[in-house]
Amino acid sequence: MDQIIVRGNGPLQGEIPIAGAKNACLTLMPATLLTDQPLTLTNAPRLSDIRTMTALLQSMGVEVTSLQDGQVLAMSSHALTSHRAEYDIVRKMRASILVLGPMLAREGRAEVSLPGGCAIGARPVDLHLSALQAMGAELDLRDGYVYAKAPSAGLKGAEFEFPLVSVGATENALMAATLARGTTVLKNAAREPEIVDLVQCLRRMGAQIEGEGTGTITIQGVDSLHGATHPVVTDRIELGTYMLAPAMCGGEIELLGGRIDLLAAFCEKLDEAGISINETPRGLKVARKNGRVRAVDVATAPYPGFPTDLQAQFMALMCLAEGSSVLEETIFENRFMHAPELTRMGAQIEVHGGQAKVTGVRQLRGAPVMATDLRASVSLILAGMAAEGQTTVSRVYHLDRGYEHVVRKLRGVGALIERVKEE
Ligand code: UD1
Repeated sequence: MDQIIVRGNGPLQGEIPIAGAKNACLTLMPATLLTDQPLTLTNAPRLSDIRTMTALLQSMGVEVTSLQDGQVLAMSSHALTSHRAEYDIVRKMRASILVLGPMLAREGRAEVSLPGGCAIGARPVDLHLSALQAMGAELDLRDGYVYAKAPSAGLKGAEFEFPLVSVGATENALMAATLARGTTVLKNAAREPEIVDLVQCLRRMGAQIEGEGTGTITIQGVDSLHGATHPVVTDRIELGTYMLAPAMCGGEIELLGGRIDLLAAFCEKLDEAGISINETPRGLKVARKNGRVRAVDVATAPYPGFPTDLQAQFMALMCLAEGSSVLEETIFENRFMHAPELTRMGAQIEVHGGQAKVTGVRQLRGAPVMATDLRASVSLILAGMAAEGQTTVSRVYHLDRGYEHVVRKLRGVGALIERVKEE
């Protein structure tokens, strides 16, 4: 297994290109199941999660061709061979559940392994299932699989209010509703930019949808969808992660393709902490020119709130702030596993349930640490870049799920970082 070695190296300078969004791509890819015509995604990120989704779709008979070094994914579901998403692939990635809605809508049946729990909490899929049931799906849960069947006349439009906001459940219901008979109204729907991106793609494929980006999405079912080409939206989580690099190490970085509107709540918190953010023709310039950052409190919330996927990285920043901050995690239980690792580097953090109190220190110290999940792993790299001495991050396979070319991108702005084989 590989390790990443990081050494603190002072202020950063240069530019980092931001990739297409992993989470958008993982829901756009299953949309190919909705049509027998080709769906092509451009600006796709090169990540292991995308390769896992590719393998899953291929196992169902979808043709997936990766072009331009993986940045273009040409898919075709004209000759599906299976309705089944096997446990062996689903267990690697929860987003596999996103094949359920589209497969059921187009083929009238689907068998999908239930994803297990994962490191950041229980993460059930009950909301995905209830929304599909509201559209008439018959579901049978046995042997760790959900066996789903649509009525013989197909799924029917329905009004469904999500009891809590779920990104994945909104995506599954939305895709299924595009081919249902009649009108579907999804209330308390997720408003994330990845949902808006999915709707834009579905519209290019001929779907009739209104209200994306608000809490109520209305879908008028159509008989069939057709092929399209769609560019994947910018990855706001990769963007926010790299915005924190100059905030922690000093210097100035331009993030190519960066947009404040994707991350308004996060940008407000950075501004309060004393970080300067400026829009440029090519993206965003982020700088910390002098002094320590100020401590600010943060509570994660569904979009447009502060993203849970940036909580670990923001905690790394707060470890170096002047004063104390309280970070509250409201989306996932057990998402503070990076705290004990940051503590090994000299951070002062007390975790009580869903809250972490971080008292800033002047300097972190390098240490051997372990990545526990995707976002936690990159928070340790950021901390290592701002620490004195050497930090070794092990279990970096988590990182490969969500950050393409992380070593190359950070070296490009002056970080001392390398990837080595574990001895
Ligand atoms: C997506 C993102 C993930 C991000 C999360 C929250 C993808 C591939 N992943 O995950 O990176 O951290 O949004 O922004 O897009 N819940 C239920 N029942 C369900 C579904 C969810 O109780 O059926 C709960 C979850 O346990 C969690 C909350 O709802 O507490 C929100 O989860 P959800 O928005 O569904 O997250 P994901 O779509 O899995």
